[in-house]
Amino acid sequence: MSTYILMKILESAPSRYDRGIRILTLGRLDKVYDRLTSHIKSGERVLDIGCGTGALSLRAAQKGAKVKGIDVNSQMLEITQKRAMEANLTQNMELCEMGVAELGSDESESYDAVMSGLCFSELTEDELAYSLKELRRILKPGGLLLIADEVRPKRILKKMVNWLIRFPLVIITYLITQTTTKAVKELPKKIEESGFLIESVTLNRMGNFIELVTKRPEK
Ligand SMILES: C[S@@+](CC[C@H](N)C(=O)[O-])C[C@H]1O[C@@H](n2cnc3c(N)ncnc32)[C@H](O)[C@@H]1O
Repeated sequence: MSTYILMKILESAPSRYDRGIRILTLGRLDKVYDRLTSHIKSGERVLDIGCGTGALSLRAAQKGAKVKGIDVNSQMLEITQKRAMEANLTQNMELCEMGVAELGSDESESYDAVMSGLCFSELTEDELAYSLKELRRILKPGGLLLIADEVRPKRILKKMVNWLIRFPLVIITYLITQTTTKAVKELPKKIEESGFLIESVTLNRMGNFIELVTKRPEK
C-alpha cells in the first residue's frame, strides 16, 4: 500500500485516477471502501473529506445518504459530478470545491458520519490537527468518523522496508508534481487525543495502511 504516494501523480491527471488507483491497489481499495461505507445508513447526512473522484461519496449516496463531498481539486470534483449524473445520484450529493481549512463554516453537530479516504496523508500536521478538532465539532454526538489511509508502521523492520519503498517514490512524485504525501504518524493516537472513541482498527500486513472506525462520544 506504500504506492499510495503515487496518488499525487494520478491526481495530476484526474481522468486516469480511477484506473490508476485500481491497478496500484490491485482492486483492494474497493473492498476497503465497501467495508467503510457499510456503516452508512439511508437518510444520514455524511461528509466526505477529499472526495476526489467520488469513490466513497458515490457509495454512500447509493445507500441513500445525503452526501457532501469536499475537495480542493476542481478537476477531481468534475469527475465525481459526472459519475453522480451517470448513476442518477445528484439529488443525494452536494460537491464543494473547498479545503479542510474551511471546515469552520460547517454547522456544529450537523453530520451523522464523516468519511475520509487517502486524504489525511495529504494534509500538513496543522491541517490534520485542525480538521480533527472541527470534525469532532460538526459530527453529531455518537456520529462516526470513518478513515482509510496510509500510516507509518510502528515496528522498526516494517518502518525500514516502508521507508526504502517510499523514498524513490517520494522523489519521483516530487519531480512530477512538486508535491508529496506523507504517511500519517500515530493516527489512532491523534484521533483519540481529539476526543474520538476508537471502535475498530484494521492494519494491513505491512502495517502501513489503516482502516479506522471511530465515534464522537454521546454527550
Ligand atoms: C489520494 S486522493 C483520494 C481521493 C478519494 N478520497 C479516493 O479515495 O479516491 C486525495 C484527495 O484529497 C484532496 N485533498 C488534498 N488536500 C486537501 C485539503 N486540504 N482539503 C480537501 N481536500 C484535499 C486531493 O485534491 C485529492 O482529491
